[in-house]
Amino acid sequence: MKNAQSPAKARMSVPLADLKLQYRAMKDEIDRAIFEVIEDTAFILGKYAQEFEREFAAYCTTKHAIGVCSGTSALRVALLSSGIKAGDEVITTPYTFIATVEAITGMGAKPVFVDIQKDTYNMNPRHIEEKITERTKAIIPVHIYGQPCDMDPIVALGRKYSLTVIEDAAQAHGAYYNSRRVGSLGDCACFSFYPGKNLGAYGDAGGITTDSDNLAQEARLWRDHGRSSKYFHQREGFNFRLDGIQANILKAKLAYLEEWNRRRGENAARYNRLLADIDEVTTPFVAPQATHVYHLYVIKVSDRDALFDHLRAHGVGVGVHYPVPLHLQEAYTHLGLGEGAFPVAEECAQSVLSLPVFPELTQEQIEYVVQCIKDFYTKG
Ligand SMILES: Cc1ncc(COP(=O)(O)O)c(C=O)c1O
Repeated sequence: MKNAQSPAKARMSVPLADLKLQYRAMKDEIDRAIFEVIEDTAFILGKYAQEFEREFAAYCTTKHAIGVCSGTSALRVALLSSGIKAGDEVITTPYTFIATVEAITGMGAKPVFVDIQKDTYNMNPRHIEEKITERTKAIIPVHIYGQPCDMDPIVALGRKYSLTVIEDAAQAHGAYYNSRRVGSLGDCACFSFYPGKNLGAYGDAGGITTDSDNLAQEARLWRDHGRSSKYFHQREGFNFRLDGIQANILKAKLAYLEEWNRRRGENAARYNRLLADIDEVTTPFVAPQATHVYHLYVIKVSDRDALFDHLRAHGVGVGVHYPVPLHLQEAYTHLGLGEGAFPVAEECAQSVLSLPVFPELTQEQIEYVVQCIKDFYTKG
């Protein structure tokens, strides 16, 4: 490491995320959004859900947005609406949150993994075609950490083999790929509005975006007991509905999403500059065709676990996304994929570290985090 000498800093507390700061900054709007729904008793779907769906579809530049009760249910509804059935195969990444794969196995379909790219941590499009069989029905690329996957080759394979391409955009609200918005890149896309996401509700919530009238209609049936109108059910479905309070909060927060993403980008750029001279740290790579919205700012480091403990001991909230790739999780031993099956994902799991990057983070806090990292590599 070069240039290690810098003045000692007083101990600070830097959380991985701080949702209270965001609430305080827009308390009146949030409180009003909640009380509006209570006054109107529009608790489930209804007017506020429709308004948010309209605005979120416009934001994603899609014809439709369908609100549901979580990102996990969005994935489930997207698969059902695409006609995926038990026994079908769905290609995805082993380097994601478990929900992506739970949605596949939950309907009796089989997840088929492809390894990730070393630099972006996203699914490697070059490995997809060799995994396609006559049972393959869909591909779920996950825009991990907030950077879109390389979608053109993925969509081209989808077209070539008649596979539905379902974006898992749970971490990438507002990102662009070749100047096109995430959510509009595949046949449909699934979003999580879990509180800590770039656009987060005050509870569980999720959404699906699509340009397809048919897929949107199917999704509206599946999320609401297969209901075509009150007490008329075309089929059995689920209770995966978005509630009005969450929808109205999301609508209020959507107005700030661009600004919050811009600040996340600024924080990431500041980290990139300050960490550049630490040889033990690799800062995020952003592909030229992508904009990254930094749901997570993830660096690759040597001696990760010791650095993790060091930062925690110095008041820095750090995370590991993800310490075990899905094929090595106990939950998926039945897939029979042992160590060595996806070497890039396995190597990343050993070396990635997430630093605080939330929009309200201050320059001083970033400098403190970087100084703690420098101290670790110089002083041990
Ligand atoms: C990549 C990814 N997919 C799906 C989900 C599931 O979303 P939710 O927690 O809203 O069900 C998440 C949320 O953490 C996620 O990060």
